[in-house]
Amino acid sequence: MRESRLTKKDNIFINRFALSINYIPEQLIGRDDEIDEIESLVEPILSNSEPKNALVTGLTGVGKTVVIEHVMSTLLDVTKDFDLNIKIVNINCKQDNTDNRIIVHIINDIDPNNNIPKQGLSKSQYLDYMWEILSKERIILIAILDEIHVLKSTDILYHLSRPSQFKKSDNYIFIGIIGISNDISFLDNIESSILSSFGERHLIFSPYREEQLVEILKNRVPIAFKEGVVMDGVLELCAKYSDHGDARTALEILDAAGEMAKNENCDTIQPGHVKMAYNKVNTDALFKLVKELPIQTKIVLISTLIANKIHFNNTTTGDVENQYKVYAEHLGIEILTRTSISKHITKLDTIGVIDASIATKKRMGITRIITINFDSEELGRALFQDFRLSPLALQSSILKNFAKPKTKMLWDKDQCRFVECVIEN
Ligand SMILES: Nc1ncnc2c1ncn2[C@@H]1O[C@H](COP(=O)(O)OP(=O)(O)OP(=O)(O)O)[C@@H](O)[C@H]1O
Ligand SMILES: [Mg+2]
Repeated sequence: MRESRLTKKDNIFINRFALSINYIPEQLIGRDDEIDEIESLVEPILSNSEPKNALVTGLTGVGKTVVIEHVMSTLLDVTKDFDLNIKIVNINCKQDNTDNRIIVHIINDIDPNNNIPKQGLSKSQYLDYMWEILSKERIILIAILDEIHVLKSTDILYHLSRPSQFKKSDNYIFIGIIGISNDISFLDNIESSILSSFGERHLIFSPYREEQLVEILKNRVPIAFKEGVVMDGVLELCAKYSDHGDARTALEILDAAGEMAKNENCDTIQPGHVKMAYNKVNTDALFKLVKELPIQTKIVLISTLIANKIHFNNTTTGDVENQYKVYAEHLGIEILTRTSISKHITKLDTIGVIDASIATKKRMGITRIITINFDSEELGRALFQDFRLSPLALQSSILKNFAKPKTKMLWDKDQCRFVECVIEN
């Protein structure tokens, strides 16, 4: 009879939430300088002046959000007995990507009982309302704009960084803007007007070193796991597998390793579990990444995959383009121009699925040589999650293989080993 996982004894976890992205750690490792810099932005508030603006960048999982949250919570704590009306508004620019949406978000946070329409007013009407509330309530606003690189226009930064221009009463309006981005290429294209909105303050969070990642994990172990569960070498391996000094991935791998050990009814987490967990986390990340791509990008990617099977490490943009034309035609989809295909290749390079570096080849002149950064089997399976690509499975035996039914490794207790099972959709 099937044993429910809900009744299974848990030998591994006590408080698994300590490994979650939503858990707020008590201690932050290796970020004293960054904490100090963010504190210096809000410090003027304590002397009745306006907070400063800054742009914070760094790769994913390097502690940008957690450090800013930490400083904001210290600020609220320190000022709780002061006569200051500090409002911290967190905006994700992916969700609120226009000026009006950002202003409405701020209005809703600083004046939850407002009854202004969420749509339909002009920007200046929304702005006027916001200035009025900020001024009337003497609010010190700290606007944290995450994923700032997706903003359609940077006008909002201009408005928020120059509140005095809108001052109608005697009350000064104090606003601090903290922009956050993990898109490193954004820095190359950053307009000087954006940087000037931030007063030229730019903080870069560097990746964690392996020993810092181990320290971050070590602090969570006594909270998350039962005593003696984590074997020697496990944390070091999690840190090592987290390729670009990313604490989030290191925590995810440790969490998944714990789950693997639990599923196997083990009493301890072994380095072997970390290896399996790494594969799982990587595959999950790839599937998520590929799922979100537009159909044309997926066709360019599948073309790259096949061109790579044929031309190996000599695959050029032209090879991908030729393959792409065959596939787009077969799918009856608009055939993109060479320039557009090239843009999709650049995009895939930026998000890290492929590597398309410029190379000079004698015969071909300057071209891009394209390699794939993931296991091609996994990538193929990830692409074929999209049923619209399934007609391509008839095109080649390689693609046919990728379109195999989805399987999952499950632990078979009777056979005492993992077995591959087909997952029915
Ligand atoms: N110095 C640290 N000490 C303890 N935990 C940390 C530290 N830095 C990051 N973490 C943990 O790592 C995870 C990722 O951190 P965070 O969300 O701050 O990264 P991020 O730089 O904002 O990434 P992204 O760009 O993807 O938003 C969180 O669970 C956080 O608690
Ligand atoms: Mg973040």
